[in-house]
Amino acid sequence: MRLQSLILFVVVSSVILLATFCGTEKDPNTNTIETQSPWRNHADSVSYVGMNVCKQCHSGIHETFIHTGMGQSFDTANSSKSAGKFGKESTIYDKEKDFWYHSGFRGNTMFITEFRLDGRDTIFKREEKVDYIVGSGQHTNSHMYSVNGYFFQMPMTFYAQKGQWDLPPGFENGYNSRFDRIIGLECMSCHNSLPSFVKGSENKFDAVPDGITCERCHGPGSLHVREKQAGIIVDTSTTIDYSIVNPGKLSPELQFDVCQRCHLQGNAVLKPGKSFLDFRPGMKLSDVMTVFMPKYEGAEDQFIMASHAERLKMSACFLQTEKQRATLPENSLHPYKSALTCVTCHNPHITVKQTGSNTFNATCTSCHGGSAKSKLKNCSDTPEHLAAANNNCVSCHMPRSGSIDIPHVTVHDHYIRRPVAKTTAEKPQGRFLGLYAINEKEPSPQIKARAYLQQFEKFDQKLFFLDSAARYLPDANAQQIRNNLDDLVQLRFLQRNFEAVKNYVRVLSSKLILDSLLVQTSFDNRHAWTAYRIGEAFYSTGDAASAEPFYKKASDLAPFHPDFRNKYALSLASRKANREAREQYQQVINLYPKHVSSLTSLGYLWLLEGDDVKAESYYNQALALDPDDEQALLNLAGLYLYRQNYVLAEKTLDRLLKHNPKHVQATQIKAQLKTLKK
Ligand code: HEC
Ligand code: HEC
Ligand code: HEC
Ligand code: HEC
Ligand code: HEC
Ligand code: HEC
Ligand code: HEC
Repeated sequence: MRLQSLILFVVVSSVILLATFCGTEKDPNTNTIETQSPWRNHADSVSYVGMNVCKQCHSGIHETFIHTGMGQSFDTANSSKSAGKFGKESTIYDKEKDFWYHSGFRGNTMFITEFRLDGRDTIFKREEKVDYIVGSGQHTNSHMYSVNGYFFQMPMTFYAQKGQWDLPPGFENGYNSRFDRIIGLECMSCHNSLPSFVKGSENKFDAVPDGITCERCHGPGSLHVREKQAGIIVDTSTTIDYSIVNPGKLSPELQFDVCQRCHLQGNAVLKPGKSFLDFRPGMKLSDVMTVFMPKYEGAEDQFIMASHAERLKMSACFLQTEKQRATLPENSLHPYKSALTCVTCHNPHITVKQTGSNTFNATCTSCHGGSAKSKLKNCSDTPEHLAAANNNCVSCHMPRSGSIDIPHVTVHDHYIRRPVAKTTAEKPQGRFLGLYAINEKEPSPQIKARAYLQQFEKFDQKLFFLDSAARYLPDANAQQIRNNLDDLVQLRFLQRNFEAVKNYVRVLSSKLILDSLLVQTSFDNRHAWTAYRIGEAFYSTGDAASAEPFYKKASDLAPFHPDFRNKYALSLASRKANREAREQYQQVINLYPKHVSSLTSLGYLWLLEGDDVKAESYYNQALALDPDDEQALLNLAGLYLYRQNYVLAEKTLDRLLKHNPKHVQATQIKAQLKTLKK
C-alpha cells in the first residue's frame, strides 16, 4: 500500500446549484418601445435623498410612517430593534444536523452561537455577530451577518406572534444551511430601500440602507426637493406635481404595481436587460419583471405570505368592481377611487395596528350595505352571528390563516369571499395546471422558458418543469442554439445532460462562445453562469482542460463570486499548475475568508509542497467553520497519514463516518489503515 495514494485525495467537484436570476443582456429580438414617462423624477439624473430630507417638510407623515412594518422592515441589529425574548427560550436544537443555537446580547451587540454537545462537553462552537435584523417584529425577526460585504441569513428566527425562536423558514427538516444562505438583491430589494450592490457578485453589498423609505413608493426625490426649496409649488389639490410620484394619482393598475413590486412574491423573471434595482413607482411592473405562480387543482386555500395582491385579485369585490369601472366616469385626479386597490383600505403611512377594524369595516360598508351610494348586497349571515362577531366584517371574510412558506405566522387572507369551512387535514396536491403570470397577460416564450427553469432551480425540483421549458427552447441548428445559448445551457445543466451542453459548444465552437457570446457583466451574472455551467459540464465528465477557460471566463465576468473562482482554481490544480491554483484560492479567501472549500484545497496544495503545518492550519480553519465538511475531514485524515499518525487518522475518519456512515472513500481508507497498522 503506497502512502502517497492515501494522502492525495482529489478535491472532488460538487456541482453547486445556486439560485440564479434572469436576463440582463439587451435581447435583440425584443423591440421594446420606451414610452416617455410623464414623471420627471424617472430621469437618470434624479437621485435618492433619504427619508430625513422628506421629513423636513412632511414631518406628520414621517412621524406615523416610522412606526409601520415597512418603516421598521430592516435595521442594524441592536437591542431596541430586536423583538426577541432572550434567555432560556433563545436556545433551540436542530436534531437533523445535531446543532444547538443560542442567541443573545453582550452589551448592545447581538450574537448567534452554534454549538454541538457530546454528553456535557461542548465539542464544537461557532459564534457570529448579528449585523442586521430583517422583519419589523410584527410577525418575525430574521437575522443577517456580513463578511467583507457578503450577506448571509443566520440560522435563527424569532416568531413574534407565538413569541418563540425556531429555525428560519426553509431551514427545517435537514435543510439547515447554517450561516451560508446568501441574501441577494431580490430579497434585499423587497425588504429595504435600494442598496448599493456589487456587480459581479451574488450577495455582496457596498452599503445597505436601514429600512423601506418614502422613495420606494414615491420614486427618487432630489428633483422634487430642489424645486420645493426653490419655491416652485403647484396646487396638488387640482393638479399633479410631476416632480415626484403620488401613487394616489396613478391609474389603479400602476398604483397596484407600486405595491405588487414587493407584495407579489413568486417566481420573478426579469425582463432582458433589467435588474431588481430598475423598477420605479409609475412604471409598469411588467416592463421590469413578470411574476409567476404555479397553480394546482383544488389548492385555492394555500397561499404564501407576500401574496396580498394575487389573493385580492381573486375576490369578487375586485373582479366585479373592475368590470363596473369601465362604465363609470373616471375620477381624473384620483382614478383609484372608482376601483378597488390596496390604497382603498390601507394608508401605507399608518400601520394596520393603529388603523383598527372600524376603519377597515367602514371601507366594506362604503360598497356593501345598501346605502344611497352603494347598491351592493349586504351581508346575508344571521343577525345573531353578526352581533356575536361585533359586526366585524374582516373577522369572518378576511380571516387570519397560516401561510405555506413561513411557519408560526398568520396573515389575513386577502381573498375576500363567503367564509369557507376550514379543513385541517392536509389535502393531497392536485394536478399541476401550469405557471401563471400574475402581472402580465401574454409573456413572451423566452420569459416563459425562464419561468419554468427558475421554478425548477429555485422552488421545486420536478422534472416536468424542465420539459415545459424545453418546449420554448428550440436547438435544432446553430442559429437557434446561439439565440438561446444561456437558457439552453441552463436547461441541459439542470437536466444533468452534460453531453448536450458539450454538443452546443462543439456546434458553436469554444472560441466563438468565449470571445463573442459570453462577454457581458451584469447584475444577475447571466453570462458568467453560462460559462460556469459549461465548465461544470466538461469538468464533471472528466475534461478539466476544456473546463478551465470557461471557469476562468466565469470568474472574469463575475470576479466577486467566490464559487466561480474556486472552480477555476480547481481546474488549475487538476493540471498541476499548483502555484497559480494557490494564488486563485488565496484570492477567494481574501474576498471571502470563510470559504470552506477553498481553505481545504489550499491546505491540500500546501501539503503537496511539503508544508504540513500550513496545511493543518487551513484544514483547521475549514473545520472551525464546518465541523462536518467531508473533504476537509478526509484531507485532515490524509495529513495524519502523511505524518504516520494512524491513531489520529482513524479518529478523523471515524468523525466523518459518524455523520455519513456510507462514505465510500472513508470506509476504504479505514480498511487500508488496518493493514497499514499491522
Ligand atoms: C422643501 C420641502 C419639501 C421637501 C424636502 C419634500 N417635499 Fe414633498 N412636497 C412639498 C410641498 C410644498 C408639496 C405640495 C406642493 C407641490 O407639490 O408643489 C409637496 C408634495 C408632495 C407630494 C404630493 C404630490 C402630488 O402631486 O400630490 C408627494 C408625494 C411628496 N411631496 C413626497 C415627498 C417625498 C417622498 C419627499 C422626500 C424625498 C419630499 N416630498 C420632500 C415640499 C417638500
Ligand atoms: C419596497 C417593497 C415594498 C413596497 C413597494 C410596498 N411594501 Fe408594504 N410591506 C413590505 C414589507 C417587506 C412589509 C413587511 C414589513 C415587516 O413587517 O417587516 C410590508 C408591510 C406592509 C403592511 C403591513 C405593515 C403595517 O405596519 O401596516 C401594509 C399594510 C403594506 N405593506 C401595504 C403596502 C401598500 C398599500 C403598498 C403600495 C402602496 C406597499 N405596501 C408597498 C414591502 C413593501
Ligand atoms: C417580492 C418581494 C419579496 C421577496 C423577494 C422576499 N420577501 Fe420576504 N416578505 C415580503 C413581504 C411583502 C412580506 C410581508 C408580508 C406581510 O406582512 O404579510 C415579507 C415577509 C417576510 C418575513 C416575515 C417578516 C415579518 O415579520 O413580517 C421574513 C422573515 C422575510 N419576508 C424574509 C425574506 C428573506 C430572507 C428573503 C430573501 C431570501 C425574502 N423575504 C424575499 C416580500 C418579499
Ligand atoms: C408603501 C408606500 C409608501 C411609502 C413608503 C410612503 N408613501 Fe407617501 N403615499 C403613498 C400612497 C399610496 C399615497 C396616496 C394616498 C392616497 O391617495 O390616499 C401617498 C401620498 C403621499 C403624499 C401626498 C398626499 C398626502 O397624503 O399628503 C405625500 C406628501 C407623501 N405620500 C409623503 C410620504 C413621505 C414623506 C413618506 C416617507 C416618510 C412616504 N410618503 C412614504 C405611499 C407611500
Ligand atoms: C370597492 C367596493 C367594494 C369594497 C370596498 C368591498 N367590496 Fe365586497 N364586493 C364588491 C362587489 C362589486 C362584489 C360583487 C357583488 C355581486 O356579485 O353582487 C362584492 C362581493 C363580496 C362578497 C361576496 C363574494 C362571493 O363570493 O359571492 C363578499 C362576502 C364581500 N364582497 C365582502 C366584502 C368585505 C368583507 C369587504 C371589506 C373587507 C368588502 N367586501 C369590500 C365590492 C366591494
Ligand atoms: C378590502 C380591504 C383591503 C384591501 C383592498 C387590502 N387590504 Fe390589506 N389588510 C386589510 C385588513 C382588514 C387587514 C388586517 C388588519 C389588521 O390586522 O387589523 C390587512 C392587513 C394587511 C397586511 C398585514 C399583514 C396581514 O396580512 O395581516 C398587509 C401586508 C396588507 N394588508 C397588504 C395589502 C396589500 C399589498 C394590498 C393590495 C394588494 C391590500 N393589503 C389590500 C384589508 C385590505
Ligand atoms: C359572523 C361572521 C360574519 C360577519 C361578522 C360578517 N359576515 Fe358577511 N357573510 C358571512 C357568511 C357566513 C355569509 C354567507 C351567508 C349565506 O350563506 O348566505 C356572508 C355573506 C356576505 C355577503 C354575500 C351576500 C350575498 O347575498 O351573496 C356579503 C356581501 C357580506 N357577507 C358582506 C359583509 C360585510 C360588509 C360585513 C361587515 C359589515 C360582514 N359581511 C360581516 C359571515 C359574516
